[in-house]
Amino acid sequence: MEVKKKILVTGGAGYIGSHAAVELLKAGYQPILIDDFSKSDSTLLLGVEKIVGEKLPFYKGDCAKREFLESVFQIEGLISGVIHFAAFKSVGESVQRPLIYYHNNISSLITLLDVMKDFQVKNLIFSSSCTVYGQPDQIPVKEDAPFKRAESPYGATKQMCERILEDSYSSYKVISLRYFNPIGAHPSGLIGELPLGVPNNLVPFITQTAVGKRDKLTVFGNDYNTPDGSCLRDYIHVVDLAQAHVKALEFLNQSKPANSFEAFNIGTGVGVSVLELIYTFEQITGVKLNYSIGPRRAGDVEKTYADATKANYQLKWKAGFSTSEALLHAWNWEKKLAGK
Ligand code: UD1
Repeated sequence: MEVKKKILVTGGAGYIGSHAAVELLKAGYQPILIDDFSKSDSTLLLGVEKIVGEKLPFYKGDCAKREFLESVFQIEGLISGVIHFAAFKSVGESVQRPLIYYHNNISSLITLLDVMKDFQVKNLIFSSSCTVYGQPDQIPVKEDAPFKRAESPYGATKQMCERILEDSYSSYKVISLRYFNPIGAHPSGLIGELPLGVPNNLVPFITQTAVGKRDKLTVFGNDYNTPDGSCLRDYIHVVDLAQAHVKALEFLNQSKPANSFEAFNIGTGVGVSVLELIYTFEQITGVKLNYSIGPRRAGDVEKTYADATKANYQLKWKAGFSTSEALLHAWNWEKKLAGK
């Protein structure tokens, strides 16, 4: 029997990490999950196990703690690659509490790189974000667009992490995936987005309002320079995004012999406005959303969407799900959480 390649997945109990674990198993890898449950709990792990029909190796701990990471590498033996999802990601919280963002997001990456070097593990996929571009001068935005000053400490941590990875290229083979806006849930309805407390992101706010958990949704501004005045984003189904990680691992294994750093945009290439997204949600679910227009949110970028040509050609990856499918899957997940 062929031995499965072990892939360490930090942040494996989170939204994207859990979907990636499913896709890794489907592709024949053995995901080893790590999470400290600081922004998650065991709900998504249980969902993953239901989908794949087996229990996955899991370690509870903080990747910024060297002894913890070392113990995982020691116990697991040969690890063929790492996908580093574990990070804080709330733009607003990062403005309120910048130091915990710098500490958590930067020191966990540095510790991970150090331990990977000690155990001679080279392959790394890093969870980056379109936030690194700030408000790009040209959209769709390409990977070689300059990094503008980050709008938030969260954005700054992603820029700094990419810089650290670029500078360390001679010792590792790194792919940085710059996600646009991940939405949706697994089509099985067994895993999805599970924000702790009040959601910051648009889609969980929409589904929680629709299910009656929140009274009202506020659209943050309708006076932007866009066709309907609300912000434009590139909403990518979380399963498509998860599959991009599998493609990136294949790319590292096959096409990239030398140590290197490469960044790829992961998006659909289509800009969708906040109001369009609300309208599509109402159309496909038949639920009328209680929403009103409010002031702009500080730090919001007016419009951004991906030029994903590089990922399409080099990673042989393309988004497959439509926005409607993503919204429907998110809605099914929300209803399931509410027991409806
Ligand atoms: C931000 C980051 C992104 C990061 C993500 C993680 C930037 C530019 N983007 O995405 O890199 O990966 O957070 O959380 O830093 N909206 C409303 N009402 C709401 C919530 C949101 O109108 O209640 C609007 C926002 O103004 C925005 C759009 O919906 O135009 C999407 O917002 P959100 O889901 O929070 O994601 P981003 O801010 O785009």
